[in-house]
Amino acid sequence: MMHGCNLLFLTVLLLSIIEGSTKAGPQKSTCIFRDHQIICEKHLPSLEYPVNTTNLEIRNIDWLELNFQDLVEKFPFVQNVTVIHGRNVTKLVPPPAENNIQVLTLNNLRLKRIRKEFFINFTKLEELSLRFNHLKHLPKQIQLPTVKTILLSGNKWNCSLNLDWVLELNETIVRDLRNLTCHEEPYPGKSLIEIAKFIREIEDECPLKCSCSMPKVVIEPETEVLEPIISVDCSYKGFSVFPETLPSKTKTLYLQGNEISSISPLRTNPLYENILDIFLDYNKISSVEELEGSLWLTQFRVLSLRGNRLSQIPSYAIDNALRQNSNMPNAVRLRLGGNPWRCDCPFTPVFQEMLQKFSHQISDLMEIKCSYVEGDENSMVPIIGLSRSSLCRFPSEYSVQALDLINVILVFLIIGVLAKLAYDYYHFKRTGRVPWIVTKMP
Ligand SMILES: *[C@@H]1O[C@H](CO)[C@@H](O)[C@H](O)[C@H]1NC(C)=O
Ligand SMILES: *[C@@H]1O[C@H](CO)[C@@H](O)[C@H](O)[C@H]1NC(C)=O
Ligand SMILES: *[C@@H]1O[C@H](CO)[C@@H](O)[C@H](O)[C@H]1NC(C)=O
Ligand SMILES: *[C@@H]1O[C@H](CO)[C@@H](O)[C@H](O)[C@H]1NC(C)=O
Ligand SMILES: *[C@@H]1O[C@H](CO)[C@@H](O)[C@H](O)[C@H]1NC(C)=O
Ligand SMILES: *[C@@H]1O[C@H](CO)[C@@H](O)[C@H](O)[C@H]1NC(C)=O
Ligand SMILES: *[C@@H]1O[C@H](CO)[C@@H](O)[C@H](O)[C@H]1NC(C)=O
Repeated sequence: MMHGCNLLFLTVLLLSIIEGSTKAGPQKSTCIFRDHQIICEKHLPSLEYPVNTTNLEIRNIDWLELNFQDLVEKFPFVQNVTVIHGRNVTKLVPPPAENNIQVLTLNNLRLKRIRKEFFINFTKLEELSLRFNHLKHLPKQIQLPTVKTILLSGNKWNCSLNLDWVLELNETIVRDLRNLTCHEEPYPGKSLIEIAKFIREIEDECPLKCSCSMPKVVIEPETEVLEPIISVDCSYKGFSVFPETLPSKTKTLYLQGNEISSISPLRTNPLYENILDIFLDYNKISSVEELEGSLWLTQFRVLSLRGNRLSQIPSYAIDNALRQNSNMPNAVRLRLGGNPWRCDCPFTPVFQEMLQKFSHQISDLMEIKCSYVEGDENSMVPIIGLSRSSLCRFPSEYSVQALDLINVILVFLIIGVLAKLAYDYYHFKRTGRVPWIVTKMP
């Protein structure tokens, strides 16, 4: 009797263990029910859930679709929904208009995008968290009038896309706004809101007809403030003077192929004070004298003046400014080729000396040639290779010859005078007659 009873007990025990293990299989949810709260792993409970649940938390889901329509049907009283960890969610189905959701947390779900329509029926939402997803941007003008808190950090914000949506965010609501960062090139790890503000500013201040860009931003080592590197391209746009507006932190300005004749704004207009690189090739500039003694010459990096109308420059002044330039020697680049340079003894030797001295900075040395002069042997010859005698020979040879000639004539004249004197003296001694000229003197 005792044996049979034991056997039955063992069988029941075994059966219950087998049943237990099948129940705990992968398709079955493991949920914890508490007062008003359900916390589930992977799945929602299949049937036996309290309909008056207000707080629902689901973890580690592998659904493709997160359906708030279904969810609100099953739990019409739910106020706080948390879904965390999941890799496959690609679709979010919005809830019906009648819902009580006040707190919505969708973290670590690898969400790539959320459409504006998704939020329309969340009319009671007060807190929203979308942290640690793969969002690249948010839609503009999301209407969430009741919301008090939003968290967005840990996403993959793409700063090459339009960032107007960022400027709409309210810092007192989006609590981690200052912590949001751009995810990839060209501004990886840089503050999303700062970048959005820079881009807006650049768009607002960009001169008409030009295109403005921010190839990168750098962090100022001393102040740790973000510094935009702004580039403005106004090339081949028919400008006859420098543009009147410019994004305030422009570093590089392309103005080649215009009709500009004066570069004095580099000296006089504060907008241009901090430009480091300026490309003025193929304009109508005939003088850089305006830059003499300017601050700009001592702090620029690139000055490109190819194909203009320069025939001479103040070599000593440029030399002096270059020696004081804070970007010397490695960052300074000067281009002067394709101009009708004057080649003569007063200008060219000093110019040539300057070219030699700054040959590391002047990147088109062989293009700096004497202007075209028909029949001149120096015509279109690179100035750097000219010999001093080829520049100064003709004028100096002429003057030497003329002097010699005068000397010779003077010698002959002196000899003539002395000979006449000797003759007159001898004649007077012999005949006692004074020369004819003396008889005429008073
Ligand atoms: C929620 O429903 C359960 C039964 O499903 C009930 O026991 C409980 O009292 C209800 N709670 C509230 C607050 O209505
Ligand atoms: C969903 O994610 C799981 C891992 O969590 C993966 O094994 C499964 O293949 C994914 N399903 C689909 C349809 O992508
Ligand atoms: C919402 O639920 C989550 C997880 O269950 C909890 O951590 C959070 O405090 C709840 N929020 C509110 C406002 O009740
Ligand atoms: C909002 O709710 C209404 C009524 O339940 C529904 O017809 C509509 O499709 C919902 N809106 C969105 C964007 O799903
Ligand atoms: C970011 O946006 C730019 C512009 O649309 C696009 O070319 C680039 O592929 C995007 N990057 C990622 C990682 O999606
Ligand atoms: C930002 O939100 C706060 C609190 O809701 C509100 O008082 C403030 O007016 C909002 N600011 C802007 C610029 O909308
Ligand atoms: C922002 O980031 C800092 C440092 O990573 C952290 O201490 C702070 O709590 C974050 N703030 C928010 C609102 O997430």
